[in-house]
Amino acid sequence: MINEKRSSSCGVLDVANAGQSVVLCGWVSKRRDHGGLIFVDLRDRSGICQIVVDPEAAGPINFKTAEDIRNEYVIKVKGDVRTRDEAAINPNLATGKIEVLAREIEVLNKAKTPPFYIQDGIDTDENIRLKYRYLDLRRPEMQKCLILRHKVTKLMRDFLDQRNFLEIETPMLTKSTPEGARDYLVPSRVNPGKFYALPQSPQIFKQLLMVSGMERYFQIARCFRDEDLRADRQPEFTQLDMEMSFMSVDEILELMEGLIKFVFDGALGTDIKIPFRRMTWDEAMDRYGSDKPDLRFGMELVNMVDAVKDADFTVFRSVVENGGQVKAINVKGYANIPRREADALKDFVGIYGAKGLAYIQYQADGNVKSPIAKFFTKEQMDNILATAKAEPGDLLFFVADKPSVVAAALGALRIEMAKRLNLIDPNALEFLWVVDFPMFEYDEEEKRYVAMHHPFTSPRDEDLPMLATDPSKVYAKAYDMVLNGTEIGGGSIRIHRRDVQKQIFSAIGLTDEEAQEKFGFMMNAFEYGAPPHGGLAFGLDRLIMIMAKRESIRDVIAFPKTQSASCLMTQAPNDVDEKQLRELHIRTSMLAKKDK
Ligand code: AMO
Ligand code: AMP
Repeated sequence: MINEKRSSSCGVLDVANAGQSVVLCGWVSKRRDHGGLIFVDLRDRSGICQIVVDPEAAGPINFKTAEDIRNEYVIKVKGDVRTRDEAAINPNLATGKIEVLAREIEVLNKAKTPPFYIQDGIDTDENIRLKYRYLDLRRPEMQKCLILRHKVTKLMRDFLDQRNFLEIETPMLTKSTPEGARDYLVPSRVNPGKFYALPQSPQIFKQLLMVSGMERYFQIARCFRDEDLRADRQPEFTQLDMEMSFMSVDEILELMEGLIKFVFDGALGTDIKIPFRRMTWDEAMDRYGSDKPDLRFGMELVNMVDAVKDADFTVFRSVVENGGQVKAINVKGYANIPRREADALKDFVGIYGAKGLAYIQYQADGNVKSPIAKFFTKEQMDNILATAKAEPGDLLFFVADKPSVVAAALGALRIEMAKRLNLIDPNALEFLWVVDFPMFEYDEEEKRYVAMHHPFTSPRDEDLPMLATDPSKVYAKAYDMVLNGTEIGGGSIRIHRRDVQKQIFSAIGLTDEEAQEKFGFMMNAFEYGAPPHGGLAFGLDRLIMIMAKRESIRDVIAFPKTQSASCLMTQAPNDVDEKQLRELHIRTSMLAKKDK
């Protein structure tokens, strides 16, 4: 047994430590038996250090221990740091210039053979990684993500603390907040038949904290949303949530830019240029077909209505006559797209509702090849090419439809083509504020307007009169921060007057009684001196995903859920005892079926 305490971490040892006696603890990353000598790569959170076990230095008992250890055993080693011979230096290892000559080795715990290699860059099925998440998190690249996450939240706290923000917790067991997703419900045992909702965000509470005079609030808040999951969406995720009183849009955006700059500089040493570009929602939709445009490449959407409206092509003409749009993207230098690929992309845009995908190949020799060429005169074709700024060698894709379909289809195609043609610089950071969102969007299914951000967002003052007459024309004091085509944060100036709040609820189809029942407490609060206020919430997981250059937010969350919102490690969600259900006054229809 080694009585001395651990004296150092593995990854920090350097030539400066040569000659020192150290006690290291960690996991066996690799063991190589060279007959007379055994080499052990010992790993802890700080990195890897090579241990050399020589029977002469360690004695026969310790040498036998070294012979028996296997990968992932937890061991303690006492030994001397020494520099390696020139030929033995490992330039790929931070500690590659030294090694530790073992004097004593103690096995603290054995380990079964892990189901996958504990090393970076493995291509193990993610489901296996999630099942054994504690082993997956042992891998250095995963540890790096969580270390970065810690640094980022620490920097956020420091920045906000220096600016007089208070970190305040808000309830987890609460009432539904309308952020647009379904709620996770929690049954109440002591209030039979009643449910709490887990917060989709702390929105209402943070606004009430402004009414309380807290002036500047923040929270690193867990949010719960029962929605369809994707690579950048989890059912529970974390926001850096903030709210401020007496601040204008410009002041809030400037403060948030400062925060992002501080975080990138402190965590990655990256110098972010501020202020960020700003673009109205209308412009973003028009030029990029998206409210979160990726500005790392061009390929903007071009309005082709004037160029095609007089041509003999009924598909385009009828769309134009019915008030729709015809737009194109110019995929530079890709005129030679294989026929099969071009045709397959029709299915791709079909996902977004497009009924077809027309294309024109402007070949390098100056000729035009296209299934729709026959519908245009030479002059019309020249006009189309000029409008799209096409040069020989370019490929044009067209979608004709109502504006929302054209934007969704061409917006997605633009990104797809950029990925296929490798147009995206993986090191670029393109920040953008999207501002002036429409207050409402029309929900075809529910046949009513819904708030595009949330119903506590303030309309622009000049648009207030249109609330009752034409809600579709009302714009909001809302803003989103976009980074490389991902929405990393969103917020707004809020409504702080009861009468305006009531009008918004009525515009989204809530009766006065429903509004009173759901949000009466909030509207009441507005009558007791609510200050003007506004705020923003960053999607912490998304921000860190981009900072860590990962493809999925699952990689920056310690214990994430799968696409079907389950945890493969704990098997949640799972069945519960009948007794538990009875106590909660709950009977599930699934259980009823099982009973039969
Ligand atoms: P919003 O709904 O835009 O705003 O959320 C803020 C940010 O949170 C991130 N986000 C998510 N991240 C992971 N998984 C999810 N399911 C998920 N949903 C959202 C996004 C988003 O920009 N209360 C308002 C904020 C405010 O107005 O101050 C709100 O929650 O990056
Ligand atoms: P059609 O005459 O319907 O065979 O269409 C001729 C070409 O126009 C085909 O390449 C279709 O994919 C394309 N097309 C059809 N509808 C649309 C549309 N709404 N937008 C863009 N292209 C379309």
